[in-house]
Amino acid sequence: MRRSSRSTLRSIQHKILADVNPELGAKALQEIEKEFGPNKAIFSHTDVTDYNQFEDAFKKAVEKYKNVDILINNAGILNDAIWQKQIAINVVTKPSS
Ligand SMILES: NC(=O)c1ccc[n+]([C@@H]2O[C@H](COP(=O)([O-])OP(=O)(O)OC[C@H]3O[C@@H](n4cnc5c(N)ncnc54)[C@H](O)[C@@H]3O)[C@@H](O)[C@H]2O)c1
Repeated sequence: MRRSSRSTLRSIQHKILADVNPELGAKALQEIEKEFGPNKAIFSHTDVTDYNQFEDAFKKAVEKYKNVDILINNAGILNDAIWQKQIAINVVTKPSS
């Protein structure tokens, strides 16, 4: 987690972390629990370019915390050799099916 993300996280009571990489997600969850205490966050294994997975992450958040107040889309890759994928992840995400 970058410093700017950390200061934002401090102002959010419950967090749902969504990442395509489960190892990074588990590590981020551990860091959050260490800093904010247990049961302050859950992890959703999510590819933001997949509509169903993206919707699933929202469902998990609503099931656990009733609603979603803030969405921070920080998913990103830097690789111009696969620029279409880069645009899909960094810019488009997946607002509709
Ligand atoms: N770090 C910087 O200095 C910097 C500067 C300007 C812009 N950015 C942009 O900010 C964003 C985040 O940067 P960062 O340095 O935190 O990157 P990072 O690599 O630390 O984090 C990006 C995360 O996105 C995840 N991810 C990749 N593809 C995904 C997908 N399809 N679905 C869900 N998760 C996915 C990765 O697993 C990773 O955990 C990127 O878009 C980056 O281009 C970063």
